Amino acid sequence: MSAAPLRRWRLAPGGAVTGAFSVPGDKSISHRALMLGALAEGQTRISGFLAGEDCLATARALAALGVRIERPSDTEVRVEGRGRGGLAPSSAPLDLGNAGTAMRLMMGVLAPQSFDSTLIGDASLMRRPMERVAEPLREMGARIDTQQGRPPVRIHGTPHLTGITYKLPVASAQVKSALLLAGLSASGRTELTEPAPSRDHTERMLRAFGVRLPQERGVVSLEGGQSLRATTVAVPADFSSAAFFLVAGVLAAVDGLRLTNIGVNPTRTGLLELLQLMGADVRVLPHPGTTGHDVEPVADIEVRAGTLRGITVPAALVPLAIDELPVFFIAAAAASGETLVRGAGELRVKESDRLAAMAAGLGVLGVEHELLPDGMRIRGRAEFSGGVIDSLGDHRIAMAFAIAALRARAPVEIADVANVATSFPGFEECARRAGLGLTTL
Ligand code: S3P
Repeated sequence: MSAAPLRRWRLAPGGAVTGAFSVPGDKSISHRALMLGALAEGQTRISGFLAGEDCLATARALAALGVRIERPSDTEVRVEGRGRGGLAPSSAPLDLGNAGTAMRLMMGVLAPQSFDSTLIGDASLMRRPMERVAEPLREMGARIDTQQGRPPVRIHGTPHLTGITYKLPVASAQVKSALLLAGLSASGRTELTEPAPSRDHTERMLRAFGVRLPQERGVVSLEGGQSLRATTVAVPADFSSAAFFLVAGVLAAVDGLRLTNIGVNPTRTGLLELLQLMGADVRVLPHPGTTGHDVEPVADIEVRAGTLRGITVPAALVPLAIDELPVFFIAAAAASGETLVRGAGELRVKESDRLAAMAAGLGVLGVEHELLPDGMRIRGRAEFSGGVIDSLGDHRIAMAFAIAALRARAPVEIADVANVATSFPGFEECARRAGLGLTTL
């Protein structure tokens, strides 16, 4: 299900970036706003919604389950909540495109329904592991079949789930969120412990929808049977999309660059700390009134080009920067000295094997590196070569290498870029406005 007709980019080498601008809405928060809105009683109004392919796949899936969703504009959505037990069976399998978050969270939504569902996706999603969600859901009493751990996911709806106490083996917001969503309709308490904090958008948003969700010393617990009250959701700009321009800025914003209205939930902003550890000039200017346990913090972020030094990435920052590691590798490739990332094996099961994809691309650009089972060692250099890079259809790989062109001495071509529309529709225009010499072929 590829959206844009774009297939390939050419990036002119070198150049500078500048300006003050925002990026589209947060993908994680947009998915959740649609789902919680669908489960709530009343009308939920979403502003700042990400009209990217992934979130549109979630909207289509919910519509197929009987939810009325209107979009008065590209970024505004109204969801007519169906309340508890209000979803209806879909006559066809639900196609979630490239969206892993949509599939895993919908498993939590659909497991406790009184009807069966089948979840499918594009070639990339059909290869991704789903047992990490299916297994604990089965412990709650759900009946779910996968095909050797992968989609299609067949869910035999079981309305009488029971809450569980569960220690997540990996820090995964998708697993945590699926279990919380299933726990809402389970009897008893669902209690979850993570090995390290992962993004907490579901927890914040459930509270905004009126759910009691205590959290103490890393354990989040939810009493089943609670109803959701519709509300308004203001989605901030996606930190993960801003990340490409943050790195562009530290590489090439000689006059500075300001990104506005960016979500700075501390469970997402590990990249800021990593760049600061490398010596980058990054300033966060928080928006007042965006603090509290049920809201998402928002800020403007200013960056300026400077010299970077290689670092050993602290293990605790890996889950807080997981989606930003591809573009962080580009910063590391431009830093003096060596950068080491370990504990990032999760990158191998994202939209592509991101460790392998980044290693291959860095090789094309002449950057010395060592691919490790769970990370990478990168030796930075002042300038990269040009060449042709395969994004493997992975949006974040494509955008990371577009930023790398700022330090290349010959053109960089990037193949298979249509999936950039899953998370960052309008990236091309945004990049050109910032100063990148991006041509769509
Ligand atoms: C997401 C969680 C993360 C992240 C993904 C979005 C979410 O995945 O990589 O892009 O919205 O919950 P994991 O939960 O697998 O770590």
